[in-house]
Amino acid sequence: MILYRAALAAALVLVGAAPTMAQTGQAMAQTCYVCHGPGVKGAGQIVGLVGLPKDHLVRQMADFKADKRPGTIMNRIAKGYTDEQLALIAEYLAALKK
Ligand code: HEC
Repeated sequence: MILYRAALAAALVLVGAAPTMAQTGQAMAQTCYVCHGPGVKGAGQIVGLVGLPKDHLVRQMADFKADKRPGTIMNRIAKGYTDEQLALIAEYLAALKK
């Protein structure tokens, strides 16, 4: 019984940890590179994100999400994330070196 409980507790810890690991800023930011280019340095007409401060990124994403800033695609992308997730993504991107 004690072993069973220990196994159950371990399983619950693992289940609890999995989503957290998948939702690091680094993991969630991988999708941004597709359009914003390698190193998020920009690609074609799409602006680079590297070097932008976290506050700026958070504000832009919040404005896209609330449709306060018009865009072609970013509004839909921003709506796919919670505010907490957007903050994690912004924190990760803002820490990248140019
Ligand atoms: C499908 C292509 C695409 C993807 C994927 C994408 N972006 Fe964008 N991004 C754009 C385009 C295009 C713009 C210009 C605004 C618009 O037309 O929506 C833009 C603009 C922005 C801006 C405004 C920059 C500024 O300084 O004004 C930010 C911030 C941004 N994107 C962040 C992100 C983040 C963070 C991700 C990943 C979660 C991401 N983008 C993923 C295409 C994309």
